[in-house]
Amino acid sequence: MTKPRSLDELYARFDGMHMEGGWHRRFPALWPVPEENFLPYVWRYADVYPVLEAAGDLVSTEFAERRNLTMRNPVEGNRYATVRTLVAAYQMVKPGEIARSHRHTPNALRLILDGRGTTTTVNGQRVEMRPGDVMLTPNWAWHAHENAGNDDCYWLDFLDVPTVHLLEPMFFERHPDGLEAEVEDVEISPVAFRWEDTLAALESSSDDAGGMCAAQVELGDPALDTVRLYMQRLALGATRTHRTTANSLFAVVEGQGKTCVGDTELTWTRGDVVAVPAWRAYRHEASEASVLLRVTDKPVFEKLGWLREEIA
Ligand SMILES: [Fe+2]
Repeated sequence: MTKPRSLDELYARFDGMHMEGGWHRRFPALWPVPEENFLPYVWRYADVYPVLEAAGDLVSTEFAERRNLTMRNPVEGNRYATVRTLVAAYQMVKPGEIARSHRHTPNALRLILDGRGTTTTVNGQRVEMRPGDVMLTPNWAWHAHENAGNDDCYWLDFLDVPTVHLLEPMFFERHPDGLEAEVEDVEISPVAFRWEDTLAALESSSDDAGGMCAAQVELGDPALDTVRLYMQRLALGATRTHRTTANSLFAVVEGQGKTCVGDTELTWTRGDVVAVPAWRAYRHEASEASVLLRVTDKPVFEKLGWLREEIA
């Protein structure tokens, strides 16, 4: 190989070698503070509901396991994620429908919005899911859902699939028997957080998350290896302003108001989902007493030493 004799020749040689000079990058590798990539955004249950109903009519039961609508962040080039590390989806399961047992490395949880009579079975324990309940399906736990009632059931799913996409340890498998053979019905389960228990805990909580709510309770500690869950009660009016390197999704369990992220104002009501990407200063402003479920990838940042938080 000859020795390059000019910078142009040198750079041309880099291209052929799939290399790049640190002083001559096409794209910077380091920068002083987190970039703003994913966008603050809100998805509204009122818009989604009729679409899910139509999907229920038009998409056959055979596809019921996947009759969910994922919330794709509108940032250019994004193909799937709601924020960098997490994805959220609305799902509707009609009476008689079953999602067969399967397991995957992504961690998942659901928040029930409407309808009774659906059960989820996690590692052989079957729990009825009721509105306001939060259910976990951790990494590699067998899980299935069944709607044995008369209502269409609507819920929100949250998964760390984009984190698994990034790190690549994706495994998925279907249960060889379709459904687990040995199933026990339980009311109390380590993977189920009941709405009435959450409400009672909120009543006696004095944790205001540094002024970001009137009271909060954490579900689990953390709920999943990659996800912390906080049920937060908002009083009328504005919270303080929070900025964190962690990403957050807020699901509105009750009430209405808006979340201000920089100059963006996202109004919300029950069943809506608000995306607050990393390092964006945000505050909530409730126009009536409200309850939000905050789903955050904070444990990832805690474990890696990258959690930075400010409240102003
Ligand atoms: Fe699943």
